[in-house]
Amino acid sequence: MVEFTRYKTYEEYLTAQIDAGTKKKTGFWIKPHTIDMLVKKENRPIESVICHGVRTGRESEKFAEYATNVVGTEISRESIEYNKPNYKKSTVVEWDFNKQNLEWIGKFDIVYSNCLDHAYDPLETLEVWIDQLKDNGTLCLDCVNFADAPGASDWDPYQDTPDHIEEYVTNVFSMKLKYSFWSLGGKNNETKILAFTK
Ligand SMILES: C[S@@+](CC[C@H](N)C(=O)[O-])C[C@H]1O[C@@H](n2cnc3c(N)ncnc32)[C@H](O)[C@@H]1O
Repeated sequence: MVEFTRYKTYEEYLTAQIDAGTKKKTGFWIKPHTIDMLVKKENRPIESVICHGVRTGRESEKFAEYATNVVGTEISRESIEYNKPNYKKSTVVEWDFNKQNLEWIGKFDIVYSNCLDHAYDPLETLEVWIDQLKDNGTLCLDCVNFADAPGASDWDPYQDTPDHIEEYVTNVFSMKLKYSFWSLGGKNNETKILAFTK
């Protein structure tokens, strides 16, 4: 069941996300091994990747071991400033991932995020992310199994199951599931990586 945003206004949402991103600026959720597994499943040369909501840059830096052009987005300026020394091979920009950047349309082999739960309106955000894919690009949604993630909080405005996310990405956006696999994130929470193509 989709639980949409709990914020009354977009401004309230943005302020909450920036505050949380700043307070948790040293924290990370991704286990880099997930990115290794994902690249292995892709089994093709990858040049360009965009990762949405990267904070410490762990996932963008891991992707940069495989791809030459890796961009990360992050909403908290303070977190970016703090984590700058970690961004060695990827470029992390202060950007609200719910919004389109015209320079990113059709540019990426992979659009990856483990932050769909932080979207204001997941359907609108997915449309933005899908438009950033090259024709043969892969949308990779790393979806925590919320039944297994007691750490989920008010800062995660949208909570859903991997099965339901798979269902509506294929139905609403006519994407095809390319592969999926389970991994671990956070404090060993189960997470399912869903990879879609147009
Ligand atoms: C749960 S953390 C995950 C961080 C990182 N991906 C990891 O696995 O360690 C969510 C991140 O998304 C960022 N974020 C939240 N809303 C955002 C938005 N609208 N645009 C860009 N980043 C956002 C937060 O500031 C935070 O750093």
